[in-house]
Amino acid sequence: MQTVNRIDPLRDAVATLRRDGPLALVPTMGALHEGHLTLVREARRRAAHVAVSIFVNPRQFGAGEDLDAYPRQLARDSAMLEAEGVALLWAPDPEAMYPAGYATNIAVAGISEGLCGAARPGHFDGVATVVCKLFNQVRPDLALFGEKDWQQLAVIRRMARDLDLVRPHVDRIIGVPTVREADGLAMSSRNAYLTAEERAAAACLPKAMREAIARIGAGEAIAPVLAGLEHALLDGGFRAVDYAKLCDADSLAPLAERGTGPARLLVAARIGKARLIDNMAA
Ligand code: PAJ
Repeated sequence: MQTVNRIDPLRDAVATLRRDGPLALVPTMGALHEGHLTLVREARRRAAHVAVSIFVNPRQFGAGEDLDAYPRQLARDSAMLEAEGVALLWAPDPEAMYPAGYATNIAVAGISEGLCGAARPGHFDGVATVVCKLFNQVRPDLALFGEKDWQQLAVIRRMARDLDLVRPHVDRIIGVPTVREADGLAMSSRNAYLTAEERAAAACLPKAMREAIARIGAGEAIAPVLAGLEHALLDGGFRAVDYAKLCDADSLAPLAERGTGPARLLVAARIGKARLIDNMAA
């Protein structure tokens, strides 16, 4: 595995790899876990070579969020990626990503504005901006993202279509189902913020979501089911619920009633020092 930190050697490395066939990109912020590695394995199945980026992107963290606390463990991450057969690790220096005078922002209207976008103003601008840059830097044939971050995936798909990034250089954006711990909690680098007690309590999130989905499936009215879900989380040890919403799976428009199209239950809630998100088909 080759590791590069600056744009010029990145371009050389990518040009060499692309001679052999399709190149897949898996963007990450590091602190890798099985969720990330599942994206890498799926990428290996689909492309001749895999590039992984690790960059803790300051532009997607708001004031007072966990930018400084975010776990950084590049040596461990690098060994994990090497063992998975990754060809290229792109770990840009912050000044390679945002040189002095950097002034451009990408804002995806509509789909960015509700849910996590409402709770974290500017977050999806930061995500869209860095992912657009990563696509332009690596010019992958395909890129893989987790369904764990459902709204992020929708924002990136919209941006890629709107800015014509999908062709020629990113042919496909692939969503990979959420990888979970044995007790159902979605894997996340932020789970590391939890004490043992909080970690045990956090399992009530996926459990309460599954129960809510079963009630909605049985024909119960949406609003009381979502209120019950919030109560279950607060009773179970969460200290606040940013949102718990049933939405159209594609547009993310909130649904007051279960229609016939695909729906998604999306939740963000705070426990201890962590803000956890999850989503499931409903
Ligand atoms: P990060 O949180 O490191 O996640 C990198 C990728 O791994 C994302 O596509 C995310 O959805 C996926 N992922 C995380 N946990 C997962 C799980 N349990 N199952 C499946 N996939 C999972 O998301 C980001 O970084 C950043 O916003 C990024 C896209 C890299 C832009 O900075």
